[in-house]
Amino acid sequence: MDKNEEIRNEAIKEINNSSDPASLEGIRIKYLGRSGKVTMILRSLAELPLEQKKIMGPKAQALRAELDSIIVEKKKKLLEKKHSALDVTRPGKKIGLGHLHPLSIVEKEIIDIFRSMSFSVIDGGPEVETEHYNFDALNIPENHPAREMHDTFWLSQNLTNNKRQMTNDKEFRKGDISSRQSSVVGGRLLLRTHTSPMQIRYMESHKPPFQIIVPGRVFRYEATDASHEINFNQIECLMVGKDVNLSNFKFIIEEFFSRLFKKSITVRLRPSYFPFVEPGLEYLIQCVKCGGKGCNICKNSGWLEVMGAGMVHPNVLRAGGYDPREYQGFAFGVGPERIAMLKYNIPDIRMFYGGDLRFINQF
Ligand code: DAH
Repeated sequence: MDKNEEIRNEAIKEINNSSDPASLEGIRIKYLGRSGKVTMILRSLAELPLEQKKIMGPKAQALRAELDSIIVEKKKKLLEKKHSALDVTRPGKKIGLGHLHPLSIVEKEIIDIFRSMSFSVIDGGPEVETEHYNFDALNIPENHPAREMHDTFWLSQNLTNNKRQMTNDKEFRKGDISSRQSSVVGGRLLLRTHTSPMQIRYMESHKPPFQIIVPGRVFRYEATDASHEINFNQIECLMVGKDVNLSNFKFIIEEFFSRLFKKSITVRLRPSYFPFVEPGLEYLIQCVKCGGKGCNICKNSGWLEVMGAGMVHPNVLRAGGYDPREYQGFAFGVGPERIAMLKYNIPDIRMFYGGDLRFINQF
């Protein structure tokens, strides 16, 4: 066997045994590289007599071409294999992690603060609510003008459950008598307009004393603008006991806002009307931006309206199954959207639900 044949066999054996592109490249260099075995043969041709050169030259050239093409083929195969098989040594792909929505961040903060003040966090409650819980039990009987404060999405009753349709107040009023008759216990169905119905639901199944907060989603049939959405959130707070009073409320709400905005915040109470509380009030906090001096956020008043509160109305305690001569309590609502807007300087409530990633990714 001549030397060429020997080198050829050796090279082909090595190529066949190689299992990755890197070792194949090593073999290529060993035979075809600048000082590779085949290259050396080609170089040595120069010293041979012409006759021998004529025979050896083409042979060596052919060997080089043959090995070269075998290596190229093999490399192709190895690369194909590499791409189809799982290579655990390759660096992994970075997985994009999501993050919390600004509303979730704020809601979590609010919940943490109330929890640290010994409030129990009650989950949910139904978003499809009955007229009884949303209105009547909260001292808002039918035809009470206070119902006008809540533009309501009513659910049609004269359709089967899975075909239920939403109607608004006007359409509803136009509706025929049969559709107005209740087909469910507790009256007609609606999308709850506030989280206050949870006051009744909770009282019905629990004994005082207690202090709870209930975060939840609510709905209003309203035109949207920078501060109104048809779907938003509320956190309902309720504390009931034998001697719970409004100064307890004032302390708790001041403590809450001071912890939330991490600075001492004064709260102001002013009379207002909500049928389910007596006395009813509105609470305002010292402007978190200017501290009360007056700025664009507080419209130069120094104060920011937050939401309603009051001492739970005797009728509401009764509806919850309590004796108002024995128990009393306060209730208030908090709006997570309003708080998030103040905290992060968000100008338009519609941004929360717009799904625009340029907004969401800032948090
Ligand atoms: N439910 C009221 C609303 O949606 C807010 C509210 C007012 C809640 C007074 C309360 C309260 O608990 O005492 O407009």
